Amino acid sequence: MSSTTSNRTHHLTLIATLGVLCSVVLFFVYFKPSSTACSSRLEDLPFLAKGDVSSHTKKPVEKPLVLLWFWPLGVRWNFSFCQTHFNIDSCVLTDDRSLYDKADGVVIFHQDISWDLKNLPQSPRPHFQKWIWFQLESPTNTARKPGVENLFNLTLGYRRDADITVRNELTTVKNEKDSEFVLPKKDKLVCWIVSNNNPATGTGTRAKYYQELVKHIKIDLFGAAFTGSRLKYEDYYSTLASCKFYLSFENSIHRDYITEKVNGPLVAGTVPVVLGPPRENYEQFFPADSFIHVNDFTNAKALADFLLHLDKNDEMYVSYFTWRRYLKAKPHLQRIEQEFSQPVCLACEYMARDKGYYNVFHDVYEWYFV
Ligand SMILES: *[C@@H]1O[C@H](CO)[C@@H](O)[C@H](O)[C@H]1NC(C)=O
Ligand SMILES: *[C@@H]1O[C@H](CO)[C@@H](O)[C@H](O)[C@H]1NC(C)=O
Repeated sequence: MSSTTSNRTHHLTLIATLGVLCSVVLFFVYFKPSSTACSSRLEDLPFLAKGDVSSHTKKPVEKPLVLLWFWPLGVRWNFSFCQTHFNIDSCVLTDDRSLYDKADGVVIFHQDISWDLKNLPQSPRPHFQKWIWFQLESPTNTARKPGVENLFNLTLGYRRDADITVRNELTTVKNEKDSEFVLPKKDKLVCWIVSNNNPATGTGTRAKYYQELVKHIKIDLFGAAFTGSRLKYEDYYSTLASCKFYLSFENSIHRDYITEKVNGPLVAGTVPVVLGPPRENYEQFFPADSFIHVNDFTNAKALADFLLHLDKNDEMYVSYFTWRRYLKAKPHLQRIEQEFSQPVCLACEYMARDKGYYNVFHDVYEWYFV
């Protein structure tokens, strides 16, 4: 029997009991007090209130319990951030492992799983519990730890076909003020912020492309890989804004692996020059005329020539911002703890909507490492 049915039965019993009670009371008081005493009491019962009766018979919805098994990369943050920043308050988040037996969802960050799997939950899994595989890195930067592939029920990451997808999405412009845009002052042509793997010595696709490109056009570099110190968070958007173009070069090339490296320049009012999956994939997320794809050019020199041409042609350059009349890019969070909070908050929201279907992911790796 569902709880709603049992509630209703319970309420009907209550009405019947009250009815009997009223008659008995009325019989004994001979109408002395107002005869409305009982009827008004009946009206006070919430399930008889005017309007939708069924909405009053529902049990208050219990929030699912979601256990964050590891603090990703050991970085802690305050769970109340889900409510204050993302307006998500539909589950109870905890890091208290003693609540494991009660948890509806257990979020497990792939990078923190030990190779021997000994730091995973060891006690038997409650039948209702779902394990959520959480990974933000691309397959290239994901260790294939054996034994992980058949443990999970849900996936959480950047892929569009994940159960819970984490992305920076454009939103539609709501009003005129929203679409107001003044091109920021530019004093640099091409910029690039890289925090790791110095492209001057790297061998990856993006490193090679950079080495070719820099022969033909000036590139201003920022970030730890070049300057020895991280660009300050508060300087991120203003630095991007001061450049006409920004190299949104992904560290590896995979379908849907299109990161905040594109969102940043779109927010700042800079044209992203993207290197990653094919143009079609980018166009599933961003307007075709909001970015320049390196594959649109036969080589780095042709790209450099095009950027130099745009630099001399304002009308052509500003056409890359036409999309802003209809769409808006939202600043993404930069601090590492905030980067990890969004996915966890989304997992919380998902679990609150989860219909309790049985989910078995037969091989997470087969899905991920395509
Ligand atoms: C988390 O933030 C809330 C307010 O947003 C505050 O009341 C609470 O004390 C904080 N918890 C910790 C552990 O810092
Ligand atoms: C979750 O996946 C595991 C491993 O495949 C499976 O044994 C378990 O029954 C699944 N649980 C749910 C609630 O889907």
